[in-house]
Amino acid sequence: MSSPLSIAPMIQWTTSPYRYLFRLISQSPLLYTEMITSHHLFNRYNRDGGLPWLEEEEDVEDVACQIGGGGGEESIENFCESCDIALTNGRYTELNINSGCPSSKAQNSFCGLKHMLPEGRDDFVKILKEVDRRFSCRTKLSVKCRIGVYPNSTSLSNLLSYVTKVHSSGIRKIILHSRIGVLGGMSTANNRTVPPLVYPVVERIKKEFKDVEIILNGGVRDFESVDYLLDGFYDSPLISSEVEKYGSLNDWELTGERVEGIPIDGVMIGRKAYNDPGIFWNADSKYTGLKDNNYTWRHITTTYCERMEKNVDRIGLVECIKPLHNVFAGQGRNKEYKRCVDGRVNFWKKEKKRIDNGGVGQVLTVQEVMDECFEVVDCMDMTVGESRKMILTNDLKT
Ligand SMILES: Cc1cc2nc3c(=O)[nH]c(=O)nc-3n(C[C@H](O)[C@H](O)[C@H](O)COP(=O)(O)O)c2cc1C
Repeated sequence: MSSPLSIAPMIQWTTSPYRYLFRLISQSPLLYTEMITSHHLFNRYNRDGGLPWLEEEEDVEDVACQIGGGGGEESIENFCESCDIALTNGRYTELNINSGCPSSKAQNSFCGLKHMLPEGRDDFVKILKEVDRRFSCRTKLSVKCRIGVYPNSTSLSNLLSYVTKVHSSGIRKIILHSRIGVLGGMSTANNRTVPPLVYPVVERIKKEFKDVEIILNGGVRDFESVDYLLDGFYDSPLISSEVEKYGSLNDWELTGERVEGIPIDGVMIGRKAYNDPGIFWNADSKYTGLKDNNYTWRHITTTYCERMEKNVDRIGLVECIKPLHNVFAGQGRNKEYKRCVDGRVNFWKKEKKRIDNGGVGQVLTVQEVMDECFEVVDCMDMTVGESRKMILTNDLKT
C-alpha cells in the first residue's frame, strides 16, 4: 500500500543528504527533491557532461523530481530535454512541474506561479501536454500549484478553470498548496504564512475532479491533522480578515457543510518534516502496514555519517551536516546539541582553512566532527519511537 504522505520540495532543505537521512527514519512517504530549474539542468548538464547530484543514493527509493521552468523564451523542446535529462540520469518515480513558486526569480522567467495566471495557462498547458505525451509512459507526472494568485486570480471559478486546463493535458495528479500565492510585494518566506490556508477549497477540487489524485499541502504539523484531513472535513473556511483581503469568502463559495464521500488522496508536509523529522518514526506502520524501521538514533546517525563520508568531498561538510541539525527537535538538551554542532562545524572550517593554506590542521571524518555532539543528547540508544514517547511524557509533566 503506498503512503498518502509526502515530503514537500524545499530548496536547500530536501537535498540528497536530507532524503538519505529521512529514509533511515521512514521508508514510505514520497520524497520530493528541491526545485531544479530546467535552465540550470540543461546548461549544467551540457557544460559538465553530467550531473553527479542527479544520481540519487541507490538505496533511497521513491523520490519525485521537481522541475521549474517552461516560461518566457524557453522552448517546449528545451524544457522537455531537461525533463529527459532528469529522468535518464536520476532514479525518479515521479516528475513534478512547479506552478506555485511566487519568487521574483520565477516571475522574471515567467514560470512558477505565473503559469497559474489566466494569461499564462494556455502556454502552460501546451508544455504539460508535451510532457505528458513524452514522459507519461516513463514515470508518473504531477503539478504543484497554489489555490490562487493574488491579485488577478483568487476565486474558485478561476481555480476550477486552471485545474480544467491541467486536466486536459492528461496529468492526473495535482498538489495544492492551500493558500493563495502573492505576485509582488511579499517575500516567498512570508507567503508561506499569509494569506491564510483555505483547506476546503482543496476538497472542492477533489469533488469536481474525482479522477485526479489531489494532495493537500500547507501548515500540516502532525498526524492528527493528517487523519482529520484524509477523513474528509467540513467545508468551513478559516475566517480571517486576510481571506477578505486576498479574495473574499464568497469567491471560494464555501458553504460550511460537510463534503461527503470524496476524501482527498494525500497530504504533503513541508517545514515540519525538515524541522522535526522524528515525527515520521511510525508513518510506515500507520499509513501503509509496513513495519517501522525502529532504528536507534545511534544506528541512524552512524549509518548516515558513513554514507556522507563518501559524499563529503563532492557536496561539502556543511551540506552533509545540515540535516542533522534538527533531528533531535524537542529532545532533552537539543539546544546544547545544536550549539555543539555549530561549534564543531566552525572548528572544522578553521582546520580546513589551515590545511588549504599549506599549514598543519586536523583532518576529521564526518563522524568525528559529530561524535561530541551526539554525546550531548540523552536519547542515542533509544529508537526514534522511544525518544518521541519520552518527549510526550516530558510535555505532559510540564
Ligand atoms: C525552505 C523552503 C524551500 C521551499 N522550496 C520549494 C521548492 O523548491 N518548490 C516548491 O514547490 N515549494 C517549495 N517550498 C514550499 C513547500 O514545498 C510547501 O509548499 C510550503 O512550505 C507549505 O507547506 P508546509 O506548511 O507544510 O511547510 C519551499 C518551502 C520552504 C520552507
